[in-house]
Amino acid sequence: MGEGINDYTKNIVDLRRHMWMAGVEEELRRLIWQIAVVGKYISAKIHEANRKLAGFKNIYGEDQLSLDRAADEIMKNQLQYSGFVREYASEELREIVKTGSGRGKYIVAADPLDGSSLVETNLAIGTIIGIHKEAILDKGRNTMAAALYITYGPLITMIYSAGKGAHEFVLNREGEYVLAQENIVMKEKGSIFSPGGLRRDWLPGHQKFVEHLEKEGYKLRYSGGFVPDINQVLIKRGGLFTYPALLKSPRGKLRLLFELQPMAFIMEQAGGMATDGKDDILSLKVENINHCSPVYIGSRAEVELAKQFLV
Ligand code: F6P
Repeated sequence: MGEGINDYTKNIVDLRRHMWMAGVEEELRRLIWQIAVVGKYISAKIHEANRKLAGFKNIYGEDQLSLDRAADEIMKNQLQYSGFVREYASEELREIVKTGSGRGKYIVAADPLDGSSLVETNLAIGTIIGIHKEAILDKGRNTMAAALYITYGPLITMIYSAGKGAHEFVLNREGEYVLAQENIVMKEKGSIFSPGGLRRDWLPGHQKFVEHLEKEGYKLRYSGGFVPDINQVLIKRGGLFTYPALLKSPRGKLRLLFELQPMAFIMEQAGGMATDGKDDILSLKVENINHCSPVYIGSRAEVELAKQFLV
C-alpha cells in the first residue's frame, strides 16, 4: 500500500505543532506563527521583484515600493491586527509605533528584509525578528521572549527560539513550515569565519585575532548578508561571524535591536555566544533604535578567544 495523506501528515511536525509540544505560551505561539506567515508574503514580494529583474513589467504600471519598504508594510499591517503586539519597531521606521489596541502583550522589533541589496545577485536574504515583553529601550537581558529569522534562499527556512532551544523549519511545497532540526546545539569550536568591515579599518586587536584564525586554517565565508552568514555558522554548528569596531565607527555597523539581539538570543539558545568583544550582546542597554554595536557571535571558543585579543 502506498503512503496515504494521513500517514504523511502524521509524521510531519509543523511549526504550530512543535510550539504546542514545546509548551510555548499560547499568545507567543500565535504571534510567531503569524510572523512566519508574513515570511510567505515577503517571499512572494521577492518573487515579484525577481520577475521584474527577469524582464516582466508591473502590469499596473504603478510605482513600486522598494523591496525592504514593501516588506515593512506587510509586516506592520499584519501585526496591526494580530492582537498580540502593542508596539512595533522596524529598521525601516524612524521611531517605535503603537500598534493594534495598544494593549497587546508583546513588542516586536523587526528587520523585515535584511540584505535586500543582494536580491539582484540572487544570494540569500532574510527577515529578523525580536519579540520583547518589556520596553525595548534602556533594557538589557530578559526583555526578550523569543526571536526568529527567515532565510529566503534556494529554500525558505525559519529558525525560532522561544527560550526553549533553537529549531529549524523548512517551508514545504504545501506551504507548511515543517521541522527540519530540533534543538540545534553548537560545537565548542568551528572552522569557518565571516569577518565584516574593511581590513584597513580594523583596530589592531581585531586584526591580530583574524590573523590568528587564518593561521589556524579557518575558512573565509562571507556573503554580505547577515542572515545567511549567521545561518551558515548555526547550521554548521560552529565558527564565527564578526562585524567589529572600525577606526571611524567604533560601534561597528550592525544594529542591536533589529539584528544583534535576535541573533544573540538564538545563538545562546543553541549553546553559542554573542558579545561586543567584551560583554554579552544581550546584556547591553539599547540607547536608541539605531544603536549599533561591534559583534562576535558563534561558537564559544572563537567568541572567548576574541575577548583575549581585544583587551
Ligand atoms: O546591515 C545590513 C547588512 O547588509 C548585513 O546584512 C550584512 O551583514 C552587512 O550589512 C554587510 O556589510 P558590508 O557590506 O559592510 O560587508
